[in-house]
Order: sequence, then structure tokens, then C-alpha cells
Amino acid sequence: LRVLRGDLFLFRFIRVRIYNFLRRAVMFKTIEYNGGKVRLIDQTRLPLEEVYVECNDFRDVARAIKSMQIRGAPAIGVAAAMGIALGARGITTNDFHMFYSELLKICEYLANTRPTAVNLFWAIERMKSIADKNRNRDVESIKEILEKEAVKIWQEDISINRNMGKCGQELIEDGDTILTHCNAGALATGGEYGTALGVIKIAHEEGKRVKVYADETRPFLQGSRLTVWELVKEGIPVRLITDNMAGYFMGRGEIDKVFVGADRIVANGDTANKIGTYTLSILAKEHGIPFYVVAPLSTIDMSIPEGSKIPIEERNPQEVTHLNNKRIAPEGVEVSNPAFDVTPNKYISAIVTEKGIIKPPFLDNIKRLF
Ligand code: MRU
Repeated sequence: LRVLRGDLFLFRFIRVRIYNFLRRAVMFKTIEYNGGKVRLIDQTRLPLEEVYVECNDFRDVARAIKSMQIRGAPAIGVAAAMGIALGARGITTNDFHMFYSELLKICEYLANTRPTAVNLFWAIERMKSIADKNRNRDVESIKEILEKEAVKIWQEDISINRNMGKCGQELIEDGDTILTHCNAGALATGGEYGTALGVIKIAHEEGKRVKVYADETRPFLQGSRLTVWELVKEGIPVRLITDNMAGYFMGRGEIDKVFVGADRIVANGDTANKIGTYTLSILAKEHGIPFYVVAPLSTIDMSIPEGSKIPIEERNPQEVTHLNNKRIAPEGVEVSNPAFDVTPNKYISAIVTEKGIIKPPFLDNIKRLF
């Protein structure tokens, strides 16, 4: 039995190695920092075209975040950190006070891109604080330190996602069918795994037969354009549905679990995520389906006590009235386009983080983790 168990272990080890090798071969880079440039995959062109954008200064990065060429809470944080590093390179003074005051302006510029994902503000604070801590060094070394910090934030994000994916395995069984919303994959993070999709990818990597139902995610279609693209690339079985079909499939008993990401989780566990997540959480509760949120600690905002205080981004009405630049609603119609909604903690079964799984009561258990 021991020999057999050893063989199984070896088999699993080899299978995971081969899988990872193949994954890297088909893998895209969400974002990278190279030679004073930020290069990112243009998510507005996927899945039809796989093209990369080069950002030469922080304004280019801010534009990419605003237009959602890069999107997803952790990815926005990584991009902002890299944008600050680029911006710092362009400051021409040797005096720390002048340098720092210019750096603060760059941070402010990047902070004004998207208001809901707290990872953006978390990354900006981390970059400001590393510059401030090194105020006694010369400005050229501070610029290098900022570049290293941005790359560190990026690399940490990838390994945090891998850890979260492993932590989440106790919630996934062989044969599970999982519903996900928006895109919480490699594209929404520093790359490779992602948050909610990270848990699914690791399950697949470990040989669990998981199947995914992906909501198309109106109006920006992150589900159909990005999640499906990522999962097809990984060879993970996926079925695309429109958002309004989720209840139908839950009612038929076809969904075992829901896994989503988060843009901001506040002190009591209330969670802002892509518009439509709130609706899904109620549907899941009604059908007795566990509803899991997967997010790194950088997505938790302890300064806000409960969900109604989370700033919700309102985006261009054209995202609703147009499809591929073609009008699909009568001209002049009044439109609302909130990009996120807030799921109250009572609908969340657990939150998966890199430090472990947080279960209710969230107020106490989140505090304990910090
Ligand atoms: O508007 P987006 O595409 O930036 O929204 C992204 C989401 O809502 C994701 O679910 C969230 O950022 C978590 S991604 C790891």
C-alpha cells in the first residue's frame, strides 16, 4: 500500500509539473515591468485580438486603468504601483521634498482613475510609504527602490493568488460545478492564477474534475470575453450563460457552488464586486448553494465599517446603450451604469484569503486575522 501511495504521489507530482509546463507555454502576461516601461495585455480587445499596450509614463497607465485595458482589483493595484515607479523616473530634482511633492501628485492622478477597488489605494499607500521611509537616501536610489517595490507588489500578488488557490481547496470537491461572475482570473491580477479562478485552476491542476458556468457579465462582458478565454486556454470545462440564466440553472440543481472575487471587502465582511454579484448571492441563498468570495488581504478595507459606505463607480452610459460601438437602445434614454454592487455579509458563506478561510461571524473573524 505504501509503494502504491508513493506511486500515486509521484504520478500527481509529474502530472502537476507537466500541467504547469503546458500552462506556461500557452500563458499570456497580464502585466510586466521592463526597462522603464509597463507592458500589459489590452483586455478591451480580448478575446478577438491578443495585443499588448506599452505605457511609457504614469499618464499612459492611468489611461489604461480608466479605459479598462487593465482591470480587476489586484491588477489595478499592480498597475498603479508600476505607474508610480514610471512617474518617479520622470521627476527631475535631487531634492527629496520637491521629489516627494511631485510623487504625491502622480499618486493623486492615479488614485482618480477608479474609485471602488481598494487595492488601487492600498498599492498607492505602499509606494508612498516606501518613498517616505527612504527619505534620507538620494533621489536616484529612491527611484530604484520604487521600481523594486512595484515589481515586488506584482510578484507577491502572483504568489498570494497561488496560496489562496491552495487554501480554497477544502471548499472544492471532485465533480463540482461552479458558477462564477465577471473575471477574477489571471487577467484581473498580477497574472497566472487569479483569485476565484485561482481556486478553480488549482482544483483542476490537482486532478479534481471541476466544471465552470461563467456569467457573461453585462455590460462590459468580462465573463464571456475574459473568463471564458482564460478557462478555454487552460483546458478547464466551461459553459457560458447570460446573467439572467443563473437562477434557472440553480433551480435545476446544476450549480454546486458560487465563487467570485471582490473589489472591496469592509470590516463586517460586506463585499463590493461586479454588478450582479448581489443578485447571485441572494439566488444562491434561496437555493442553499454556498457562496464564496476569494480575495487577498489587500482587498480588505478595515477603515469602512459596513457596505453602504463603499464608493460605487458609475461608468459611461454608452457601455449599456452600445455593443461593439453599435447602438442597441433608443437614443436619449435615461441610463444607469453602476459598475459594482455590495453583497451583504449574511449571504456570504466564507471568504478565502492567503491567510486562510474566514467564516462568519465576519466582524470578529476578519478583525482577528488582521
Ligand atoms: O470592473 P472590473 O472588471 O475591474 O471589475 C472586476 C471585478 O469586479 C472582479 O470580480 C474583482 O476585481 C475581483 S478580481 C480578482
